[in-house]
Amino acid sequence: MNRVVAGRCASGRCGALAVARVCWLAAMTVAANLLVLHASCGAEVRTAASSGGMIVSVSTPASEAGRSLLRQGGNAVDAAVATAFALAVTYPPAGNIGGGGFMLVLPAAGKSPVCVEYRETAPAAATERMFALDESRCGAKVAGVPGTVRGLGLAHREFGRLPWPRLVAPAIQLADEGFAVDRSLANSLNGILRDKESGPFTEMTRAFAPPNGDQWRAGDRLVQPDLGRTLRRIAHEGVEGFYAGPVAEAIVAEMKRGGGLITAEDLAEYRAHLRAPIHGTYRGYDVFAPPPPSSGGIALVQMLNVLETFELRGLGRDAPETIHLTVEAMRRAYLDRARYLGDSDFHAIPNFLTSKDYAIKLAGEISRERATSSEALAPDIPLAPEPDSTTHFSVVDRNGMAVANTYTLEQGYGSRVMVRGAGFLLNNEMGDFNWVPGHTDRAGRIGTGPNRIAPGKRMLSSQTPVLVLAQGNPVLVTGSPGGRTIINTVLGVVLNVLEFDMDLPTAVGAPRWHHQWLPDRVQHESVTDPRFQPVRESLEAMGHRLDRKPIRQGDAHSILVDLRTGKRIGVADGRTSDTAAPLGE
Ligand code: DON
Repeated sequence: MNRVVAGRCASGRCGALAVARVCWLAAMTVAANLLVLHASCGAEVRTAASSGGMIVSVSTPASEAGRSLLRQGGNAVDAAVATAFALAVTYPPAGNIGGGGFMLVLPAAGKSPVCVEYRETAPAAATERMFALDESRCGAKVAGVPGTVRGLGLAHREFGRLPWPRLVAPAIQLADEGFAVDRSLANSLNGILRDKESGPFTEMTRAFAPPNGDQWRAGDRLVQPDLGRTLRRIAHEGVEGFYAGPVAEAIVAEMKRGGGLITAEDLAEYRAHLRAPIHGTYRGYDVFAPPPPSSGGIALVQMLNVLETFELRGLGRDAPETIHLTVEAMRRAYLDRARYLGDSDFHAIPNFLTSKDYAIKLAGEISRERATSSEALAPDIPLAPEPDSTTHFSVVDRNGMAVANTYTLEQGYGSRVMVRGAGFLLNNEMGDFNWVPGHTDRAGRIGTGPNRIAPGKRMLSSQTPVLVLAQGNPVLVTGSPGGRTIINTVLGVVLNVLEFDMDLPTAVGAPRWHHQWLPDRVQHESVTDPRFQPVRESLEAMGHRLDRKPIRQGDAHSILVDLRTGKRIGVADGRTSDTAAPLGE
């Protein structure tokens, strides 16, 4: 049963069943003396509750695909696989079969969570110096060997209950019959079609041509017959329908046309892996997030360990000192990310990064009054900024199986290379490697060792799907898109719930902060409440440089399980889509 109730959060906590306005600085009411700022509202978060299953993604038709599997007796993994295939149809900026990602699965209460890792890899012909400094991030050469279809296949083989073709069926129907685009997707499609870099990618512009007139409008139908055919092959032939035969041949032909490197052997040899997640604890809760080749798990646990040593709850979420300490934890974790993290199959990654002792040492080096200089912390130079386009969804079924899945094409619409006649886009994930060895510069490139290109290596990711458990039971399922901001978005949601006792709509709606070591700047979401000004001034007086450009950070579709009642509270973040809604079973 699904109950979605419209409502509004004026300034305080939002009711569990409300569709709350996103309150950029919603009230933090954990203690009477805390700073309570009124919201300047932006997008909506939408909330629903269910005592059965729950599914939340950026696209309601894709969530409906997942829910239909739950209703057929499928489990959370069946629903997640169906949702992932459906998102490849209904959310083309990031939903994909030509990209890769990470899926965290809690098979059942009391069992150990598992990470299905399906990150793209560098083709066998890739070389450390294959990219020039200013090379375009569009085109066949930037595509890594796609992992999504093998990853979904592995998840289904290990944990699924219903037959594979049933999981692909809703996506086929959406592709063949089309679906109505919402305003957000219409804007996104218009943006990519107008972008001058899209000019050469005529297969993509043909597939996404507006049906009526020269631009997309909310309600127009997107029909994708080529994609429907590819999905039908995957449904009937299994994952080999993608990695061998006509679809693989079409990918290889595309590589030949566009100067890409992926070969038939690369596709045939691609494997997804089951990996042990990174495990940390925070105030008695167990936190699980992906291991390398994602940096998310290590960085998240490191930051939580550092912040656990402070009494943030007593300070309040939006007190300058809380923000300062959080930013300092972020700064250090992102420095370590640049120093140490890459594909662990190629580089040994030190164990101490997630230890409580290391966190105590780092916390001891943080001044409570002064910002640390990133450059003084390490003499390196800025990392490149990343654009927004990945997508995360969360599922909990009626039996307590939980899935947190984040997957991506890297940038919105990936490489923009749509495989001719096959209807899907290839990622541009090679852009997540350090492009030019040894070349770190102020334009934003970084050339440290662990994340350099090598054949068959997986590029470092920030994707951080998260499961938080209490005594083996799922409590919070979350994750987000947003490139390097992902880890900090997730950190914020986890802290809001575990440290600041916020209800989930408030936790997801609250303003987000980001610091990534370099550039040495603090990004934050827009806050128009005049009482934010003194907070800003305090932070600047400590030596932080705050960006003035308003941003929207991430899109964290999350589920909270009330341990007392077992009720699942689903919250759809409104930062990307104006129609995303959580669906209860
Ligand atoms: O794996 C990663 O970390 C990036 N390729 C994710 C890119 C991303 O999130 C873009 N934005 N929304």
